[in-house]
Amino acid sequence: MKTLLNQADIKKGVEKLAQEITDHYGERPLTIIGVMTGCIIFMADVIRLLEMPLRVGVVQTSSYDGVDRGRLKINSEMMPDITGRDVLLMDDIFDTGHTLKEVLRLMDELNPTSLKSAVLLSKTGRQEVDCSPDFVVFDIPDEFVVGYGLDYEDEYRNLPFVAALEPADIQSVVK
Ligand code: IMP
Ligand code: MG
Repeated sequence: MKTLLNQADIKKGVEKLAQEITDHYGERPLTIIGVMTGCIIFMADVIRLLEMPLRVGVVQTSSYDGVDRGRLKINSEMMPDITGRDVLLMDDIFDTGHTLKEVLRLMDELNPTSLKSAVLLSKTGRQEVDCSPDFVVFDIPDEFVVGYGLDYEDEYRNLPFVAALEPADIQSVVK
């Protein structure tokens, strides 16, 4: 595989994002909701750089198989109450944008005081929705990437860098 972002690149980007979040919210209490599972490493690194009163929760998204293939399913059972709170949704990557748009729509119905979104990566030229994240750490080319939380068939999340998969990597994953 080909490294797109090394550990030093990611560290710099994450620190810049933490500063932007701090500049925006100041000392106001913030609730961060991460989209499982791709958000875990990104979210863990960002929240350790934030000093405002902070609550953290998660939502899980997945796609149905079979007839409803591609339809997004959102599990918000582990999400704390966000009504009347400043909320920042965090995901690993903005690709077509359907995941972020649907999760934001669901969260908006719960009447947070404010609702914004942050992603580590945004894939150029893939967007199919009329909204985009408020904070983007890196714009990347349209390649399938893994590492730093992102997976292919549930593997590679533990890589400390972000890499684009090549055909040989795809064949080597044991199903
Ligand atoms: P979207 O709904 O098309 O924006 O897709 C977002 C979700 O698809 C992300 O939360 C990721 O889980 C997954 N995804 C999209 N592109 C990639 C990629 O290049 N590598 C790994 N996961 C990806
Ligand atoms: Mg995801």
